[in-house]
Amino acid sequence: MSDILVVGITHYPPLAGKDEVMSWILKRMLQNPNLAEKYRQVTGWPAGMRAEWADDEGVSAARNHRNRLVSALRTTRKQIDAFHPDFILIWGDDQYENFREDVVPPYCVYAHESFEFGPPANNVWNEPANKQFQVSGNVAAAKYLTTKLIEAGYDTAYSYKPLHHPLGHAFANAVLYLDYDRKGFSHPIIPFTINCYGKRVIAQRGGLPMFENPPTEAQLDPPAPTPQRLFDLGAATARILAEGPWRVVLMASSGWSHAFLTAKNNFLYPDTPADRMLFEALRSGTYDTWRNYPAASVEESGQQEILNWMCLAGALAELKRKPANAEFIDTWIFNSSKCFLTAPPAR
Ligand SMILES: [Fe+2]
Repeated sequence: MSDILVVGITHYPPLAGKDEVMSWILKRMLQNPNLAEKYRQVTGWPAGMRAEWADDEGVSAARNHRNRLVSALRTTRKQIDAFHPDFILIWGDDQYENFREDVVPPYCVYAHESFEFGPPANNVWNEPANKQFQVSGNVAAAKYLTTKLIEAGYDTAYSYKPLHHPLGHAFANAVLYLDYDRKGFSHPIIPFTINCYGKRVIAQRGGLPMFENPPTEAQLDPPAPTPQRLFDLGAATARILAEGPWRVVLMASSGWSHAFLTAKNNFLYPDTPADRMLFEALRSGTYDTWRNYPAASVEESGQQEILNWMCLAGALAELKRKPANAEFIDTWIFNSSKCFLTAPPAR
């Protein structure tokens, strides 16, 4: 039996930018030509949203949001370093980055030797676009996991090199954010992509809504894998790796409900009550709530990316482990709820 540390983090893209522009997604959603007049004025917003926006268009709130996220990331990094993993397996979404019209695997294990990627543009570290980060993979472990998953009935795609993109933001940001203080990052990673965006991965290019020319029902893509399947995939992954020779971190990398995917909130703010319900279930180890969560609810609440965490929930259930720490960070104006979690092995 090998040791496994389970963690969950966010890869929230605006964290890589400056506080002054952290609310850019909301500002873009306010340009929606179909938005009811009431929501175009701050006075028409819910009270909590107005309070966060305050009198500086959310710049102070951005500072607070960043402090909470960075503090949780530093704590997570410390735990990972202390655990000395052989690799970090990262469940993350691919938003029309590496997988495009030519192929969209339901999930895919990257058996790559190494990964090279640059920082996002206009980043908070003032790093130039041509700066390159390099992180090792673990080909042997990725092939072992894929083999065992296939033998267990999970037909798993795998790749040996990138297709359209050096490394999607769910994985690159996980590394860049866990190394927020730029001390260097020497842990090998195994990216494990999950097709979270399902019906909108190509139709909406896994991104912001297209207000001018929204996809018709016929233009939508086939769905993402079901929550139940991903929960079971996460459980199988934990089971296989627990029997392997490596010390492993299993990580989910994503925010939860996204404002820009939540039509019922006019794409302005995330479905926080739906996230809180799932957070309480996760914290208390009521994993059936996760496994039984309907795919329709995922879409209705803009929780597409929570499918990464569905794998994590399955892993926790398989390991019969409850989180030692779990933090839920809500927001009205910064697009997505964030969750952090660590579940180390029992001592
Ligand atoms: Fe994402």
